[in-house]
Amino acid sequence: MHRDFWHARWNQGQIGFHEGAPNAFLTRHAARLASDGARVLVPFCGKTRDLAYLASLGHEVVGVELSPIAAQAFFDESSLTPERTTRAPLESLRSDAVEILVGDFFDATRAHLGEVTCAYDRAALVALPPDMQRRYVAHLLSLLPAGGRILLVSLDYEPSRMDGPPFSVPEATIRALFEDRCTIEHLDAKPSDERPRFREIGAVETAWLLTVRA
Ligand SMILES: C[S@@+](CC[C@H](N)C(=O)[O-])C[C@H]1O[C@@H](n2cnc3c(N)ncnc32)[C@H](O)[C@@H]1O
Repeated sequence: MHRDFWHARWNQGQIGFHEGAPNAFLTRHAARLASDGARVLVPFCGKTRDLAYLASLGHEVVGVELSPIAAQAFFDESSLTPERTTRAPLESLRSDAVEILVGDFFDATRAHLGEVTCAYDRAALVALPPDMQRRYVAHLLSLLPAGGRILLVSLDYEPSRMDGPPFSVPEATIRALFEDRCTIEHLDAKPSDERPRFREIGAVETAWLLTVRA
């Protein structure tokens, strides 16, 4: 989607994707993602409580989010006052173990992010139309070392039944996008109850563990 689309969603408070509590797949499978003291990348992080949850496990967390409204809201809702630093072309907001880099994920380099060893993607890949997904995956993988892991939560539905975002990213697409560079493990799945429309169309959320090959 165009960046203006997401800025408009945050400006208008149209954030039906925001869960308000740590994601159920993340709480169930976080131990498979990272051991203590990892630095976890959360692309397209919004103001998700998953940032605080990952930090509560002893990890350093670095989110990347286009919307300054979302980033500020995360810290406000955590009763934290972040330190602000310019990391051109991004802006860093940091408090304790959580940093959010405000700007375009595609502008975030290893120099901005530090030594991230794993990534958590919920509603990032599926936020992108199919013609942008390959570029996103290439960029994400460029930021991770060999052996790095990704916990990916995707959504699968019959595309003729709903316009994205979120877009349907079925297993065949996950394999086409990642299998050249990663081993792929299916971890979990459940019918999506995020919105009534998702229930109507039989959307299924699936958790994948991807490990970057050497
Ligand atoms: C569907 S929301 C998911 C947010 C979060 N992962 C969650 O689970 O609540 C997608 C988010 O990605 C952000 N976004 C979209 N394009 C982006 C980009 N190119 N760089 C950084 N963030 C982006 C949007 O502003 C929005 O907050």
